[in-house]
Amino acid sequence: MGECGVLRRIGVLRRIGVLALLAALALFAGPQVASSQAAPAQAQEKLRAVPLGTAVRLSALRDDARYRDTFLREFDSLTPENELKMAALQPRRGQFDFTTADALVDFARRNGRPVHGHALVWGLALPPWVIDHGASDEIGLRLPPIVLPGRPGALGQGLSNSATVLTGWRRDELLAIMTTHIRTVMRHFAGDVAEWDVVNEPMADDGGPSPSVWRRFIGPDYVEHALRAARAADPKAKLFINEYGVEGPGRKFEGFVALVRDLQKRNVPLDGIGLQMHSHILGYYDQATLEWAMRRFASMGLEVQVTEMDVGTSLLNVTGLDRLTRQAEAYGAAARACNAVTACKRFTTWGITDRLSWIGVGEAPLLFDASYKPKPAFAAVRSAFAPRTARAAAPARQARRWRWRAGTGARCGWASCSGLRAGRG
Ligand code: XIL
Repeated sequence: MGECGVLRRIGVLRRIGVLALLAALALFAGPQVASSQAAPAQAQEKLRAVPLGTAVRLSALRDDARYRDTFLREFDSLTPENELKMAALQPRRGQFDFTTADALVDFARRNGRPVHGHALVWGLALPPWVIDHGASDEIGLRLPPIVLPGRPGALGQGLSNSATVLTGWRRDELLAIMTTHIRTVMRHFAGDVAEWDVVNEPMADDGGPSPSVWRRFIGPDYVEHALRAARAADPKAKLFINEYGVEGPGRKFEGFVALVRDLQKRNVPLDGIGLQMHSHILGYYDQATLEWAMRRFASMGLEVQVTEMDVGTSLLNVTGLDRLTRQAEAYGAAARACNAVTACKRFTTWGITDRLSWIGVGEAPLLFDASYKPKPAFAAVRSAFAPRTARAAAPARQARRWRWRAGTGARCGWASCSGLRAGRG
């Protein structure tokens, strides 16, 4: 499945959002966010074998041998970039489509790469049938969802449905949709996907909850319900909340810590925090600040992962070389911080190559350039962690087998990729 229109629209919106965020960072933070938080960790820090992950797209893995080879050579784990989002998995109410997701998870399994599941509950990447409820919002009329008293028969149901399409979901109805989605998806992948972003981006920049269909029609406790449903669906899976802009001090960070504390106080299951770390060379956090933030979460007993790092390089009138150097500094600071904090267990970038970055090739935000050449940032990240072991590199042998099955060379269409299998065996 290619990216559908909805995802593309979301991409554009998100891109605008990210650029605004980056511009704001540039204005207020200066070229580098200085830290008053902690003494910088020293370079002598013992290197740990932190797995290096990346977001991947099934279409690129199938169609582009350089993309596939670079992934298999350099990365230890993967996060499906869009394939596990609700828009992809439940395009129609109650009808799940696992075709693409299964193929990607199968690829990961065959090649011995753990999958980080992303993302069960998010305000974006939703199928239209979820968003279309509350149509009055579109014309600026924020009608509260109405609850019709239970009327027997099809007419009553029909009436109730059309009312909610206009005014929004009833809490119980959307809660059931959310928990069914979580249960169905997690059970489907149980054993193959051991960790999940259960809730993605619950925070607004002011430290309050971010607006979303879940927040609006279920209420702020949707986060708690989602996590409890996730634990019940697959008790073995690690559960994460994934967020951006909470890797350094500020209102959003404190609001996020307060949310996590509150969840913990009430014994809501939560295993880790994903720090997205979408950033830019005009304003990135130094190592000490990042360590400080990671240790705050670690001190709450949580695992930490860097889940979506990229470092944009546009908007600055400097030479290409300078951009690459600053970018390497930003990546290096994050990787060294992760290495220094034992609770940091994975370091994932949001894509492999600049060519396919979600914020556009012009940002050149990733570790490999548009021709798959490693950039200075790649060396900065790699050297922050212990070298990959022979065991970690071994799955490349399986990869060759997979490539053979998939029929390398020619473009790998769905049929000739039958080695990937559309369904799960
Ligand atoms: C992005 C994908 O990279 C794009 O392809 C898609 O069009 C929109 O979503 N934060 C997240 C990710 O949690 O899911 C987003 O991924 C990037 C920002």
